[in-house]
Amino acid sequence: MKLRSIYIAFIVGVGSALLSSCSAGGNDTGYEYAPNMYHSFAYEPLTQQEDEPNKINPNGMNMREPVKGTVARGQMDFANYSFTVSNESYESASSLKNPLASTPQSIAEGQTLYNINCTPCHGDNGKGDGTIVADGKFPPPPSYDSDRIKTTPDGKMFYSIRYGKNLMGAYGTVLTPKQIWTVIHYIRTVSGPFNGSAASNTPTASK
Ligand code: HEC
Repeated sequence: MKLRSIYIAFIVGVGSALLSSCSAGGNDTGYEYAPNMYHSFAYEPLTQQEDEPNKINPNGMNMREPVKGTVARGQMDFANYSFTVSNESYESASSLKNPLASTPQSIAEGQTLYNINCTPCHGDNGKGDGTIVADGKFPPPPSYDSDRIKTTPDGKMFYSIRYGKNLMGAYGTVLTPKQIWTVIHYIRTVSGPFNGSAASNTPTASK
């Protein structure tokens, strides 16, 4: 009986000693187990650490480059439209044809996407008078009913919307190819059908 109470007292004593050694308080920061979990080394993923190049990855880089031919998630459809970004590619994009039929449904979908993404610059009706243009913060983009857009083939529009053009940003990460084509159907409802030769619209700085 006596031995048992000594035993219990011992267990309680060790237990409370262990518990109290974990707790921080006053000037005592307590113990940190596995401190690397709290104070991790921050590695730059894209650059090589100057004093400590990564010994495993190529070029001493901390992150590995994606395998050649990797397609970003959600961008699989773009694999059919692989361009390098250049003026020549812009020109050759003229030959791309809109694969979707122009139906009230595809136009409506394009208009919805246009309203969400494009109106700040291009305006509600594609006149190039969006709010940031009206505020004088941005030069006006070409109006969709101008000769400039009427003579721009669908394929060049596709290229410009995907990769951007001069002051206009790229939408390839925001819109899927199918969505871009629906927006082009909508733009054509404002501009009318393509009216010109494919070579008539060379990339120039916007005025
Ligand atoms: C930040 C303002 C801005 C936004 C937002 C914007 N654009 Fe533009 N867009 C421009 C400007 C500026 C140009 C003229 C580019 C040039 O030719 O220099 C342009 C040109 C274009 C052209 C003509 C491309 C060509 O090849 O000549 C199309 C088509 C177009 N935009 C569609 C869109 C669509 C669709 C969206 C939305 C998904 C959009 N834009 C969003 C500013 C914008």
